[in-house]
Amino acid sequence: MAIERTFSMIKPDATKRNLTGAITKMLEDAGLRVVASKRVWMSRREAEGFYAVHKERPFFGELVDTMTSGPTVVQVLEGENAIAKNREIMGATNPAQAAEGTIRKTHALSIGENSVHGSDAPETAKIEIAYWFAETEIVG
Ligand code: CMP
Repeated sequence: MAIERTFSMIKPDATKRNLTGAITKMLEDAGLRVVASKRVWMSRREAEGFYAVHKERPFFGELVDTMTSGPTVVQVLEGENAIAKNREIMGATNPAQAAEGTIRKTHALSIGENSVHGSDAPETAKIEIAYWFAETEIVG
């Protein structure tokens, strides 16, 4: 299976509860390697740009409010089948529907405060990684 890179965010609801290490450990225990990581407090403009695909959705304003409410840890994860593996360990978007043992089942508070984000496909991974990281910041 191919070695892939994917983009991951530990969202403000989780950083505020001091869960950066606990969530990163779950990612590492699943076989993913953190090859880039930084803590950012995103501006409204950055959040609106990152989530532009959702701008017509009714929850967009709330999403931008939530994502700018505190620090986020943005990461690049590398590993075999990293995109699908990360989505598996994250669990369903709505924590009420997430499987036991997933990050969202274990830590998320609600669909809006769902602790993590991960890319859903190779093309979005590429775009999302480039949104936050220069090539020189990714050290495999
Ligand atoms: P994420 O994977 O970051 O992608 C978009 C985010 O919008 C999603 O996780 C949720 O945190 C947030 N969101 C808020 N309300 C909804 C909703 N009703 N349906 C889907 N996503 C929602």
